[in-house]
Amino acid sequence: MPKSSSFVDAIKSGVDDLARALTPASVAGLPGIGGGVNILDLLKADHDRFRDLLDKIMKGRGQHRADLFKTFKLEITAHSRAEEKALYVPMQKFEEGKKKALEGDVEHEVVDYLLAELARPRNKDTDNWTARCQVLQELTEHHLDEEESDLFPMARKHFDSAALDKMGQQFIKEKRKHGVNDEVPRQAAE
Ligand SMILES: [Fe+2]
Ligand SMILES: [Fe+2]
Repeated sequence: MPKSSSFVDAIKSGVDDLARALTPASVAGLPGIGGGVNILDLLKADHDRFRDLLDKIMKGRGQHRADLFKTFKLEITAHSRAEEKALYVPMQKFEEGKKKALEGDVEHEVVDYLLAELARPRNKDTDNWTARCQVLQELTEHHLDEEESDLFPMARKHFDSAALDKMGQQFIKEKRKHGVNDEVPRQAAE
């Protein structure tokens, strides 16, 4: 076989591998592509990122800490607003979901308040700022854990996977209105 032909064959088989990898199922797993994005998977991915960001904010100092906080504030605010519309509103149709969604709304309000307070001081390295951020971290982690342990199982009970995918699409759309685009890979927090 001439050299050029084996080179072409290698490229062809590479393309075939790629086509196989991009089966509808794997494409559906990408946010905004293929239409199949379960809202609970999107929420969990955000929650893990927030836990990580909070940890890094607490360990960071100076401009690095300020930049991480800015990213966290933008992303969690978009997450909360989109979650209220795409998850809390439909959950309120059920008695058990209503109670949890209302509790979640109040926790979002407290997080919003603390974020606004923490955004104000230029110097984010003071003991006072760090103490307030510690409270934000504890409250946020409690909130995320509770959503995952209480609200997620309820959502799985009341909505089938097609409904959860539809809610996922709405979640992505709402986040975009608040300046966070899930279709663009986010910068890893370092
Ligand atoms: Fe939430
Ligand atoms: Fe959440």
